[in-house]
Amino acid sequence: MAASSVGHENWSSRSAFILAAVGSAVGLGNMWRFPAEAGENGGGAFVLFYIFCVLLIGLPVLLSEVLIGRHGQANAPESVRRVARDSNASGGWGVIGSIGVFAAFLILSFYCVVGGWVVYYIGVFAGDLFQTGLTGGAFEGRAAEDIEGLLPGLFGNGGLMAGLNLGFLAVTMFFVARGVSSGIEWVAVYLMPLFFMLFLGITIYGAFTGNFSEAVAYLFTFDFSKLTPEVMLAAVGQAFFSLSLGVAGMMTYGAYANRDTNLGETSGIIAGADTAVALLAGLAIFPIVFAAGLSASAGPGLMFQSLPIAFQAMPFGSLIGLAFFIMIFFAALTSSVSLLEAPTAWTHERFKITRPSATIIVGLGAAILGVLSALSFNDLAEFYPLGFIPLFAETNFFDTLDGVTAKLFMPIGAILTCVFVGWVADARLIDDENGLDGALHLLWRVLVRFVCPTVLAVILVMGLLA
Ligand code: PHE
Repeated sequence: MAASSVGHENWSSRSAFILAAVGSAVGLGNMWRFPAEAGENGGGAFVLFYIFCVLLIGLPVLLSEVLIGRHGQANAPESVRRVARDSNASGGWGVIGSIGVFAAFLILSFYCVVGGWVVYYIGVFAGDLFQTGLTGGAFEGRAAEDIEGLLPGLFGNGGLMAGLNLGFLAVTMFFVARGVSSGIEWVAVYLMPLFFMLFLGITIYGAFTGNFSEAVAYLFTFDFSKLTPEVMLAAVGQAFFSLSLGVAGMMTYGAYANRDTNLGETSGIIAGADTAVALLAGLAIFPIVFAAGLSASAGPGLMFQSLPIAFQAMPFGSLIGLAFFIMIFFAALTSSVSLLEAPTAWTHERFKITRPSATIIVGLGAAILGVLSALSFNDLAEFYPLGFIPLFAETNFFDTLDGVTAKLFMPIGAILTCVFVGWVADARLIDDENGLDGALHLLWRVLVRFVCPTVLAVILVMGLLA
């Protein structure tokens, strides 16, 4: 176990840090939301603009976040306060970390609900494999409507949804309670390579058995007339969510990084890996969906409904379906671990209680909110917690949490981070941490000071007006 001089554990190596951070970034956002958003927003134009957002907005903010954490060597609010203190600025900037920690807690609660759906499909395909055997397609003899109906069937069962959600959360809690090296790092170091192997296998399978050329044409034909303000808004939001930004997760992971890690380079690797996985997810899912003659624009149903139908006609359908959802489970777990770690590290250090106790307290809170989210698909469908605010009128609990974090907390946290790192913090301190020099350094400064806050402010306003 690598204990740092400041009293908390550190990553045992730079590659452990990279794997954990990539594990946080790569998740349901890449595998489920990215293909769905690309499909709903017209394919290529969205994809190109997305890459642009990752490079010009996401990457500079990512570096800013890990840099704050590494300098502060503590939970997110405390890290920001330490950077502020060392820059002779007000400790009030710590609010950036507090917003992030709270947002991570809220996202965790509903992220685990979707994690529960993944567990459900693992069960469905495992059962199917048992019934139909290894080589045949999935769901032999069942009508497409039947397969499509599995998801609404699950949504209708509040008890099952809540149970699966709690199960997923419990697994997340188990690893976070074990600590940085034997819990968080362990999951990343073992599950991420397994994830990449399964992912590569399924992409190759899709390329050979599915309609690969149509998928490539769909994802990489840039029709700029499709680049509307809504599509742009969706792309920036997706880039932020996918890189785990604006919610203190990357600050918290940065705090466990060693002094000799080059943060500029490492951020580039994290963003590059995350984007590559998102694009490859499109290249794994769309060929299979297109081969079955299904539409790209199914949105949230793409992974949970279209794909299972498509597996019906594929050789080894049940086996590939099972492998596919196990792979999604690994990706989702390494992300939920980072979502839980941000508020847990804060609770643990702020109230000086043990890590397992902190995990249980935060986990219990997330369990309560998570059950309310799970029930908002059935028993509490008519419960609109912020219904008195026009933006959230007729928005159920799950969608309210999603909306509040994506439209308010993430952009506000990120804008404040840019202003803080770009304008408030001591330039020498920042230059000492960022690992950049020359033109790249200048470019990063310009992006963090001017471009990112401006674009993010536009996003914030547009999101609230939409
Ligand atoms: N980036 C994760 C994903 O794509 C989600 C996440 C958001 C994780 C914010 C941590 C913090 O699924």
